[in-house]
Amino acid sequence: MSRTPQEVFADHGNRLGTGDLDLISRNYTEDAVLLTPGGTLTGREGVRQGIGALLADLPDADWQLTPRFAGDVLFLQWSATTAGHEVTDGVDTFVFRDGLISAQTVRYTLTPRTTRTARKATPTMAPHNSIPTVTLNNGTEIPQLGFGVFQVPDTETTAAVTAALEAGYRSIDTAAIYGNEAGVGKALAASGLDRGELFVTTKLWNADQGYDSTLRAFDASLAKLGLDHVDMYLIHWPTPARDLYRDTWKAIEKLVADGRVRTAGVSNFQPDHLRRLTDGANLVPAVNQIELHPGLQQTELRAVHAELGIATEAWSPLAQGAVLGDEAITTIATTHGKSPAQVVLRWHLQLGNIVIPKSVTPVRIRENLDVFDFTLTDAEMASIAGLDRDLRTGPHPDQLS
Ligand SMILES: NC(=O)c1ccc[n+]([C@@H]2O[C@H](COP(=O)([O-])OP(=O)(O)OC[C@H]3O[C@@H](n4cnc5c(N)ncnc54)[C@H](OP(=O)(O)O)[C@@H]3O)[C@@H](O)[C@H]2O)c1
Repeated sequence: MSRTPQEVFADHGNRLGTGDLDLISRNYTEDAVLLTPGGTLTGREGVRQGIGALLADLPDADWQLTPRFAGDVLFLQWSATTAGHEVTDGVDTFVFRDGLISAQTVRYTLTPRTTRTARKATPTMAPHNSIPTVTLNNGTEIPQLGFGVFQVPDTETTAAVTAALEAGYRSIDTAAIYGNEAGVGKALAASGLDRGELFVTTKLWNADQGYDSTLRAFDASLAKLGLDHVDMYLIHWPTPARDLYRDTWKAIEKLVADGRVRTAGVSNFQPDHLRRLTDGANLVPAVNQIELHPGLQQTELRAVHAELGIATEAWSPLAQGAVLGDEAITTIATTHGKSPAQVVLRWHLQLGNIVIPKSVTPVRIRENLDVFDFTLTDAEMASIAGLDRDLRTGPHPDQLS
């Protein structure tokens, strides 16, 4: 009988050590280890060598492990300390098939403890101006890669957004319903960055649709963010059963005219909602933020966007982790020495999508920005195109009210 990733991990006593690793390696069927730094090792022998090298580096390490399961993928975050060294940013990704580990990537940074302090004092800042921008239909430029904070509690949001700004992100995507606009606002204020460098998006919640209630809800969002304008305001869902999105749009057009919203957009609008909204409206939405990832490629909707001059912004661009174990993606990741998430983000960027991956994990926050030094080939883009399978992580927009 197939064992789940949780069961295999439990067998290891939630510890990593030589014996545990032997247990894991007995289960290998098809192996790949990516070691950074140090190149790529493949095959069963590569796995043995990679793990052996790491253990030789850290014979008496004190290991801290945090497992996270996403379907058939186990992400094992870890750090380790010895008298002489620290290992940080360790992430092992195990892909399970039929109860066996079918692929693994290992990434970590090994630092002599004496120099780590110096490194921390002068953190490497990714140059934010290396993030390309997309010019919207109102002439505004939005960074093509931003940072999302869905499901991040308000108390944790300030730390996450601060880490993102330090890493080099300048576009932040929140929403009234996330309950963390105040946490975002605190991070923005504490960053010391010029307001003009930032691109802040928030969204109007369904219960606030309607002309007057939209204006009131916008005031509340702005107060929580501690800002005098937002760069983009989105109708969060069309909620067709309410039939209020046209009135709501009129209120947002007023907010744009008043200079309190730079860019008006929508989210989760289907083709018929877009056509009905734009019929007789002053503004065509600059952006439609939709669920979009390799498992749900939204070909028809993206064609309608192109026809109407609406930019496509992808939410759940990583499908909340559900596509990161897809074999096409892990294979491409190994080829490029990148993580599955980086391959998926690169795929979005090459399609022209705006992306807003979310993470509360500093190493991933930085990793998701490190996607501008490689290019997917036409064959690799085609291989990811083949993963389209109507996979939704969220509700269907026609049904949510
Ligand atoms: N308009 C809408 O209706 C709507 C709906 C949903 C989302 N959104 C927006 O879109 C943003 C992104 O979508 P999302 O948060 O649903 O999903 P997502 O960005 O596709 O995935 C986030 C998940 O992936 C993990 N992750 C992030 N980077 C990773 C990496 N490099 N390797 C492995 N795992 C990684 C995160 O874990 P950790 O955080 O634990 O690191 C988290 O569990 C949201 O935050 C929100 O701003 C909008």
